[in-house]
Amino acid sequence: MSPTTCRLWMAMTKPVPTITSIPTLTLEMLKDVVRTKTYQNVIYQNKFLFKDKVVLDVGAGTGILSLFCAKAGAAHVYAVECSHMADMAKEIVEANGFSNVITVLKGKIEEIDLPVAKVDIIISEWMGYFLLFENMLNTVLHARDKWLVDDGVVLPDKTSLYLTAIEDAEYKDDKIEFWNNVYGFDMSCIKKQALMEPLVDTVDQNQIVTNCQLLKTMDISKMAPGDASFTAPFKLVAERDDYIHALVAYFDVSFTKCHKLTGFSTGPRSRVTHWKQTVLYLEDVLTICEGEAIVGSLAVAQNKKNPRDVDIMLKYSLNGRRCMVSKTQHYKMR
Ligand SMILES: C[S@@+](CC[C@H](N)C(=O)[O-])C[C@H]1O[C@@H](n2cnc3c(N)ncnc32)[C@H](O)[C@@H]1O
Repeated sequence: MSPTTCRLWMAMTKPVPTITSIPTLTLEMLKDVVRTKTYQNVIYQNKFLFKDKVVLDVGAGTGILSLFCAKAGAAHVYAVECSHMADMAKEIVEANGFSNVITVLKGKIEEIDLPVAKVDIIISEWMGYFLLFENMLNTVLHARDKWLVDDGVVLPDKTSLYLTAIEDAEYKDDKIEFWNNVYGFDMSCIKKQALMEPLVDTVDQNQIVTNCQLLKTMDISKMAPGDASFTAPFKLVAERDDYIHALVAYFDVSFTKCHKLTGFSTGPRSRVTHWKQTVLYLEDVLTICEGEAIVGSLAVAQNKKNPRDVDIMLKYSLNGRRCMVSKTQHYKMR
């Protein structure tokens, strides 16, 4: 089954009622081998970073990263988690015999008191869809500024956001154009809404028509909270004659303090992660010839009313032989 067919199949499948209160996302995250194994490798293969160090795990969830750190020889790990999962984490820590090394603290990073003045390492898996959705990055930066020693380490410490352009006729028809004619009725007001909502889904690498453009690199050990709002220019050059239906954003994560640079990509050419990719559908279909470029800018900002949401403004133009277009589109991730 191709990813496009797979997406159509999933769209037609009704959600199955769950019989458990364990959040699906927790399971999905732990089963995301690219994500969890990378953190495990970073910790187990770089014990020199952790030996006898005090670690703060920001947003500990089940406590999995804290357990890795304790096993790697950390002197003490403070696992801070604001949800009810903190209670589970306490049980898990006890069940695995690490109660003397890991202290689970239930509460928000912004509100809790740590029993120590400073920590040597901050570890966190804070990345959301489109990297910045849910805005947990600010929580990590808050912890960094409050508790990290001057020469302390933040893991991961680098992340980059990329943009590319794809052909996606089949799925755009199914998700967006569908609203033009619903059993003979015009429901295109819903189409407008659908166009504004970025779609989190997997993209087949064969759909990629242009180069992949780096938009922004963030250094988590140095950046200011405001740096997560930015405007970045882009130039996407077609590698073949094709149609463009959407732009696609994805991110890479790096742990540069490791003995050997370690990280992972959430891009369409890499193994699928639970972050998938973020698809921004264009109002128009662009007919692009090899060598022609879509140029523009992507502005990303925290939503003013709800800081967990992300507002995206896309400006793009194509001055091609078969297509001339210049547009601005607004998207909201919520
Ligand atoms: C992406 S999950 C990662 C969980 C775990 N570290 C892992 O890798 O499996 C992020 C966790 O951070 C928690 N969290 C989000 N904001 C927080 C905050 N301000 N203070 C404490 N925990 C927070 C969430 O409840 C969630 O469990």
